Amino acid sequence: MLEVDNIRAGYGAINVLWDVSLSAAAGQMTTIIGPNGAGKTTLLRSIMGLLPLTQGDIRLHGRSIRGTAPWDMSGLGVAMIPEGRMIFKDMTIEENLLMGAFPKQHRAAARQKCEQAYAMFPCLQERWNLLAGMLSGGESQMLAMARGLMSDPELLIIDEPSLGLAPVVVNELFGVLGRLKAEGRTIILVEQNTQKAVGVADQVHLMQSGKIALSQPAAEVSLEHLHDLYFAH
Ligand SMILES: Nc1ncnc2c1ncn2[C@@H]1O[C@H](COP(=O)(O)OP(=O)(O)O)[C@@H](O)[C@H]1O
Ligand SMILES: [Mg+2]
Repeated sequence: MLEVDNIRAGYGAINVLWDVSLSAAAGQMTTIIGPNGAGKTTLLRSIMGLLPLTQGDIRLHGRSIRGTAPWDMSGLGVAMIPEGRMIFKDMTIEENLLMGAFPKQHRAAARQKCEQAYAMFPCLQERWNLLAGMLSGGESQMLAMARGLMSDPELLIIDEPSLGLAPVVVNELFGVLGRLKAEGRTIILVEQNTQKAVGVADQVHLMQSGKIALSQPAAEVSLEHLHDLYFAH
């Protein structure tokens, strides 16, 4: 569904991604792991059109999306759940959800989408009128995921959802990821929880220093080998 083809991108004069290629197949979970500073978020930002490419191309359903503005990505069926959750703390849970349906083409279905979000995340339903700033880290992540689903994306891009969460909440989160996958959604997941990420993935890519160091079907990944690579520099 999505092909990243030999891209370079970075911040001004600083290049971060070096000839990165990967693809995400429809209905599959493509997972990108790698240490802090490897360039995982930079890659996701490049896909979303938040950073210009200085080399290469990105294709969605075979058509180049290079140069597409971030606000046009929703119309193409792509949504990102950013690192750090980025929820609106001074707005209620429901208002946060409705922001996920802000693009015009999604507004008509917003009510129905809210109900779907509450069915998937009951903890949000109980508190629909509460300010999002009152939520715990785990609940905030669930809200960020629910908001990302409001535009009913074909491709969901999720950046480090388990960061800073307690183990029991991490388990809950991976349960939700498993259900999204079972629904047939195409997902690109960036994670540092290697074991859990590989467990839920179809395809695994290891990023290091702005490059893809390993690409393998999840079923073939040896966690031991992965850890050796992960810590090798
Ligand atoms: N806004 C920015 N300006 C300049 N450099 C940045 C910026 N954001 C990230 N970087 C640098 O890009 C590299 C990759 O960062 P990032 O993509 O956030 O890594 P990861 O998500 O894998 O932890 C790091 O060296 C980081 O310091
Ligand atoms: Mg990151």
